[in-house]
Amino acid sequence: MTAKNFELKNPNTGLTTSLPVRSGTIGPDVLDISNINRDQGVFSFDPAFGVTASCESKITYIDGDAGILLYRGYPVEELAEKSSFMEVAYLLLYGELPTVRQAQEFSASISRHTMINESLLRFFHGFHHNAHPMAMVSAVVASMSAFYHDSTDIHDPRHREIFAHRIVAKLPTIAAAAHKHSVGQPFVYPRNELAYCSNMLSMFFAVPCEDYEVNPVAAKALDLLFILHADHEQNASTSTVRLAGSTGTNPYAAISAGVAALWGPAHGGANEAVLAMLEQIGTVDNIPKYLAMAKDKSSHFRLMGFGHRVYKNFDPRAKIIREICHEVLAKLGRNDNPLFELALHLEEIALKDEYFVSRKLYPNVDFYSGIIYSALGIPRSMFTVMFAIARTVGWVAHWLEMIADPGMRIGRPRQLYTGAARRDYVPAALRKTA
Ligand code: CMC
Repeated sequence: MTAKNFELKNPNTGLTTSLPVRSGTIGPDVLDISNINRDQGVFSFDPAFGVTASCESKITYIDGDAGILLYRGYPVEELAEKSSFMEVAYLLLYGELPTVRQAQEFSASISRHTMINESLLRFFHGFHHNAHPMAMVSAVVASMSAFYHDSTDIHDPRHREIFAHRIVAKLPTIAAAAHKHSVGQPFVYPRNELAYCSNMLSMFFAVPCEDYEVNPVAAKALDLLFILHADHEQNASTSTVRLAGSTGTNPYAAISAGVAALWGPAHGGANEAVLAMLEQIGTVDNIPKYLAMAKDKSSHFRLMGFGHRVYKNFDPRAKIIREICHEVLAKLGRNDNPLFELALHLEEIALKDEYFVSRKLYPNVDFYSGIIYSALGIPRSMFTVMFAIARTVGWVAHWLEMIADPGMRIGRPRQLYTGAARRDYVPAALRKTA
């Protein structure tokens, strides 16, 4: 925090307030307006939180103009090239990269928490066969608080750590169970000798009647996608987890709220929507028609996988995924993927279009991720679940950071009320129709 101040004078009342200007390690300064109501009798108004820092955090940094994303200070490109999802999970949760021993102990703990209670597994049979997997996952995650009582005391650091390991470990099992229920296959139990993503693929694709061998190319591709999706500072779902968690609710309930927030097409649901859109566009000839629709304000159609609240330059995650797309598709023998070719054309045409250029709309992380998930055989309805598995690490890191903060208070935004002023109750017989 610096000693800089911002003087604010209300011309109507003559009241002046000195607002402290706070500086982070990097990034723009923020104006601390927490006393503005006490001093000036007003609230601030920023409905979609476009310019509001809701908390202080040491986890992830984004420079949207420069296209920079750092996890605990490490560039995501470097982590994508050199690290693994388990190592990144440790980094986000504990703040530092693990030593060899810490990494082994962490992976061992995650492996030992992969099974879910059999009663919880039976929940899936209660869902309709065509239930969206995100509906099943958010419900089952919320239900975990009914089972794991030794990890719901938010004031006990050991409970918090058990919760963190448990939720990271069990999300793939829950996701795979949702998939198996959708396709009518028996659930496949975790194999703890396998690494995180290999185990995920095994639970997803193995069947009891034959041996299943994990394709290392698929496991590596999944691991990379999980690294790229692991955290993204105060996005909608993370802010939802923080807000729900700030009430003191149990952590499983808070994460379930995050899953629900992620589901929307403006957020994590975009990966599913991108593939639907590419299939709808169909061929390169149709691109101009759909671009015109995306620009038409009377149409609800948006170019899915394009644009971002923070990135006004290339999303660094999209750059990495586009680069590895060629390689992964080739290695999986899927390099004739027509949707990938279509996506490349669409990107090229949109990036030359004045509408997208002037609004700084670039492909985001979701534009290409679905193409890789498809090549891995993961059905479209599961794409956002994949995102949720990876982002669980970020949600938990933020929840832990918030709960450990001695200054934590319940999140409680205010409003600009524009409804009716005080009026008297009118008996039904005397009411006039408007
Ligand atoms: N297609 C067409 N126009 C767009 C798009 C798009 N994808 N995105 C933004 N715009 C236009 C928007 O209509 C507005 O135009 P104007 O200034 O003429 O009114 C301008 O660009 C600014 O957009 P905005 O809606 O104010 O931007 P926002 O920061 O509120 O929304 C967004 C960000 C990501 C929700 C939005 O860009 C969008 O809906 N994109 C498509 C959905 C998507 O890909 N979401 C994934 C985001 S990345 C992963 C994640 O967060 O989970």
